[in-house]
Amino acid sequence: MITTTGLSKVYRSRGRAVTALDGVDLHVREGEVYGVIGQSGAGKSSLIRCINLLERPTAGTVTVDGQDLTALAGRGPRAGRELRQARSRIGMVFQHFNLLSTRTVQDNVELPLEILGISGKERSRKALGLLDLVGLADKAKSYPAQLSGGQKQRVGIARALAGDPKVLLSDEATSALDPETTRSILQLLRDLNRQLGLTVLLITHEMDVVKSVCDSAALMDSGRVVESGTVSELLATPGSELAAALFPVGGEATGDDRTVVDVTFHGEAATRPVVSQLSRTYNIDISILGAAIDTVGGLQIGRMRIELPGRYEDNVVPIGFLREQGLQIDVVDAAQGPALLKEGAK
Ligand SMILES: Nc1ncnc2c1ncn2[C@@H]1O[C@H](COP(=O)(O)OP(=O)(O)OP(=O)(O)O)[C@@H](O)[C@H]1O
Ligand SMILES: [Mg+2]
Repeated sequence: MITTTGLSKVYRSRGRAVTALDGVDLHVREGEVYGVIGQSGAGKSSLIRCINLLERPTAGTVTVDGQDLTALAGRGPRAGRELRQARSRIGMVFQHFNLLSTRTVQDNVELPLEILGISGKERSRKALGLLDLVGLADKAKSYPAQLSGGQKQRVGIARALAGDPKVLLSDEATSALDPETTRSILQLLRDLNRQLGLTVLLITHEMDVVKSVCDSAALMDSGRVVESGTVSELLATPGSELAAALFPVGGEATGDDRTVVDVTFHGEAATRPVVSQLSRTYNIDISILGAAIDTVGGLQIGRMRIELPGRYEDNVVPIGFLREQGLQIDVVDAAQGPALLKEGAK
């Protein structure tokens, strides 16, 4: 539904050049909720602004629903009209809601429809339907100042849906809201994604947001995508920073002469008694340093941090045994040595 290839953005101001995006390749599939996470300045807002051409990319292409927006942006007035049309099919939700304070809730939702030249009666019907969808049917005649933050964001979402978009882009839509309101807005986005088949690309700096609603995620750093995939792919990637942040397990090594390993279980593997098998097969004592079971991206997973006696070199065979069981193994804190790097451990 959304593809970017080699997307770059260089801002130039007062003779200085800032590279905000440095060759971003992103693939968002139809009907998924895709989270982009990264530190402040990583380029997340630049990415979303380039995807809907609010910002003109310096290089690369943006394709939304099969249409190359970057090609449209480069051509004359006719293409300009096509670009505006294409953009009306991309809904945008903002952190600070961006509602017009002098207009009622209903009139705010109608605004994009006015711009599209839709008749008053049709606008009104559509806006009231959307307000009902976001749970604000009774607030149509209120003004933004009379609403809570969560209600304002619901209006922002209703407005974003006015042009019947196939794609909703959200830049930190919940970061001005308290945790409970955040949850309700995320639930709304999830419901809209399911009910309308809407593809949602959301930017956040909160891991919990990714954890609760996203099917896929990308981690950005210095204008690049450094990790990306479905949540289950990420969880199955040894050394994945996103996976470790999505699913942390605590626990420190109890001594130097120990090998610490994170074992991730998904699906059927979770039910097998692998730790006792390992202990019996190799006649070693295993300590469990930490463990957690959680639902990430709608997927039940378990992770356990275990400690094996001896250094990494002494544990190559037992670790191989665990891998053969179809478990994902991350060596966390074994004795130093070049072998570790090859394991992708941190
Ligand atoms: N209009 C602009 N002109 C010049 N530099 C800009 C502009 N917008 C963003 N930048 C720079 O581009 C880089 C990426 O900024 P961007 O806003 O995309 O980051 P972000 O990941 O959204 O950060 P945050 O989490 O703080 O919102 C930063 O170094 C920023 O200073
Ligand atoms: Mg930003």
